Amino acid sequence: MPSVTAVHGDITAQQVDAIVNAANRRMRGGGGVDGAIHRAGGPAILADCIARFPSGLATGDAGWTTAGDLPAAWVIHTVGPNHAAGERDRALLESCYRRALEVADELDVASIAFPLISAGVYAWPLDDAIAAAIETIARTSTRVEHVRLVSFSEPTHRRVQAQVIRSFPPPTEPGSIGRLFDEEPPVWGLRGDPYLWRALRAQFAGTPLPSDRRELQRTITSAAEAIAGAPVADRDDAIYVAEFNPGHGMSAGHISASWWNSTGFPLLIDRFEGSRESTG
Ligand code: APR
Repeated sequence: MPSVTAVHGDITAQQVDAIVNAANRRMRGGGGVDGAIHRAGGPAILADCIARFPSGLATGDAGWTTAGDLPAAWVIHTVGPNHAAGERDRALLESCYRRALEVADELDVASIAFPLISAGVYAWPLDDAIAAAIETIARTSTRVEHVRLVSFSEPTHRRVQAQVIRSFPPPTEPGSIGRLFDEEPPVWGLRGDPYLWRALRAQFAGTPLPSDRRELQRTITSAAEAIAGAPVADRDDAIYVAEFNPGHGMSAGHISASWWNSTGFPLLIDRFEGSRESTG
């Protein structure tokens, strides 16, 4: 199972072995990611597309070319379904990720960067484009060790991050703040609370515990406020966090400030005190 991380940035700048292109069936360049990759990688990529894919590439399939001037060694092109044109078969979108990982294995690639296939010009609904990527990567056996899901825009990145944290929780270091979050509480306030809990756990997976509880309280509450986009400490209302909303159900994206102040934060502080007593 590869490590999976959400990255906010330009896919052409990723320092990985292979960059995945959101191509079209013609395989002769285009806009969006396709345009950016051909612009940054130079004419060698188009020449290779013409030589290796004289009749283009089918939707859901993937194929490699040189990466030209890009930092990566390979570009793995894949063609997503065009939702805007009525292509709604999700299996084709899932196939893009599965086939790209198969091609990566053929190339002995260790690290790969994906954009959100079909989520731009092809207008696949964003939350389902993210879910299709994450579900398919999670269930595809591959020798690739590191997968990046790269988003150009910050709001998209935060939505990808929330789903990645939920599906691929990183291991926490011994003695880290993140380790205080390993065991999840039996009851949450609202349905956004577990997202915030796991986001904090991931953020502090490698951060050593501070020396005193006040420093810990400050560190956790300011991180929670940065993720929630609003103060959380010492208030008792619900805060809506858009990227926590998987797009269904009431209160799906809300966190409960009162639950955090009465249960979440005190539980973490208690665990911190307990860990200090046990280490003496
Ligand atoms: N780096 C990372 N992500 C990017 C970049 C970039 N440089 N440019 C765009 N994106 C994001 C978009 O915001 C979107 O979320 O990548 C995702 C895929 O968008 P598109 O590139 O439009 O790809 P897609 O929706 O699959 O449409 C493919 O568009 O560019 C043409 O030739 C391409 O016809 C094909 C179609």
